[in-house]
Amino acid sequence: MKRNTTVYLYELAWILPSIAIPVGMLSALLVTAFGAGIHVPSVAGRVNPATLTETSPFDQLGVVQTGPLRYEVRMIGQIWSFTPNEVRVPVGSTVTFVATSRDVIHGLFIPGANVNVMLIPGQISRVTARFNREGEFFIACHEYCGIAHHTMGGKVIVEPRS
Ligand code: CUA
Repeated sequence: MKRNTTVYLYELAWILPSIAIPVGMLSALLVTAFGAGIHVPSVAGRVNPATLTETSPFDQLGVVQTGPLRYEVRMIGQIWSFTPNEVRVPVGSTVTFVATSRDVIHGLFIPGANVNVMLIPGQISRVTARFNREGEFFIACHEYCGIAHHTMGGKVIVEPRS
């Protein structure tokens, strides 16, 4: 009798975490997705790579202020550079990157900021990040795009507020 009880407790000790862990993970997923509004960057539209520079918003590349401390960066990735390859915003800015590729698949990755998307020809990627500290943030292409992939980079310069 006593021995059976011991076996049952060991089983319970395994069964409970195996229920609690998936329930905990699902709860975390639901809270972050619906409570905190954290989503995977999604397709923000389509654009013809052949007529990119005549199509809004890529006919006007660079930084555009959209509100107090809010900026939109319109950016194109191409073999093997970003246009623009230098972006300047004041500290505390919320910056939305609207970007695409002119030729092959590139990546837009900014370590230290919440920016990590693929740039796919024909598809517009949109991702928003907040820059709370001054300094330089490296922009990297993190999708292999050919022989000079490793040279494809840029920077976000976060300046003091004037
Ligand atoms: Cu562009 Cu790697």
